[in-house]
Amino acid sequence: MKGIILAAGSGTRLYPASLPISKILLPVYDKPMIYYPITTLMLAGIKDILIISNPYDIDNFKKVLGDGSQLGIKFSYAIQNVPKGIAESFLIGEDFIQNEPVSLILGDNIFHGFGFSSMLRMISLRKNCATVFGYRVKDPERFGVVEFDEKGNAVSIEEKPKNPKSDFALTGLYFYDNDVVKYAKTLKPSNRGELEITDLNKIYLEKNKLKVEILGRGFAWLDTGTTESLLQASNFVNNMEVNTGMKIACVEEVAYRMRYISKEHLASLANKYNNAYGEYIKRIVKRN
Ligand code: G1P
Repeated sequence: MKGIILAAGSGTRLYPASLPISKILLPVYDKPMIYYPITTLMLAGIKDILIISNPYDIDNFKKVLGDGSQLGIKFSYAIQNVPKGIAESFLIGEDFIQNEPVSLILGDNIFHGFGFSSMLRMISLRKNCATVFGYRVKDPERFGVVEFDEKGNAVSIEEKPKNPKSDFALTGLYFYDNDVVKYAKTLKPSNRGELEITDLNKIYLEKNKLKVEILGRGFAWLDTGTTESLLQASNFVNNMEVNTGMKIACVEEVAYRMRYISKEHLASLANKYNNAYGEYIKRIVKRN
């Protein structure tokens, strides 16, 4: 399975904080925001990741992440010139995806919860369907919203509805079979001029091939869209890390735990940091 991270937005809601650099490279507590979606894909067992950015930020992503070999994975890069919608990722990424299934994650979506990685591994093995994730929120009108019947089956999906039919937002993490490229080619721009991911999901829903997994109360799905929510996300990660002594989204640790790199290599990565982050990686080396 291939993975795509869409990191092309200009982050205007965070201006001036995101004027100098892509929002997706701003820190969420102790690491760049993109480390969170990267580790989500890695935990799903994905090693081949395409990062889609805008023409201004792409070189910064390359500088920060390189080709991925340091983590035993592969990063490729592509440009979205104009923000023409999330579903355009599958047109931009067509050559990268080839004939494999693909997972897409939005660069600003942060997930954390017990059992998440085993859930991701299980979902990544599914065939001939799409899987999306529902999460209860207090402001569903800001998101794609999924409606269920009394048996819990998804019956409708709407993008930013004025009168949401449920409190369940669809998160920015999606798993698709290879048909997604074919379906993306049939989409027409919405009223806001975008190829909507919701329209793509509707195609799977109509074909009875959409699975909706609910992320329950114990899960954190964090928003980083505004200065306030970005700070809250940082505070959340800080609280979790201080309380448990374990880091969230430490790419080096995940690469090691997924057996993408050896213990010796992990130890060499720790030496890049003369600080608490490096000390943490050294502790992981010793502990295992
Ligand atoms: C996008 C999707 C929406 C989804 C959200 C999750 O919204 O269009 O369906 O719920 O991401 O982050 P946008 O970022 O375009 O506001």
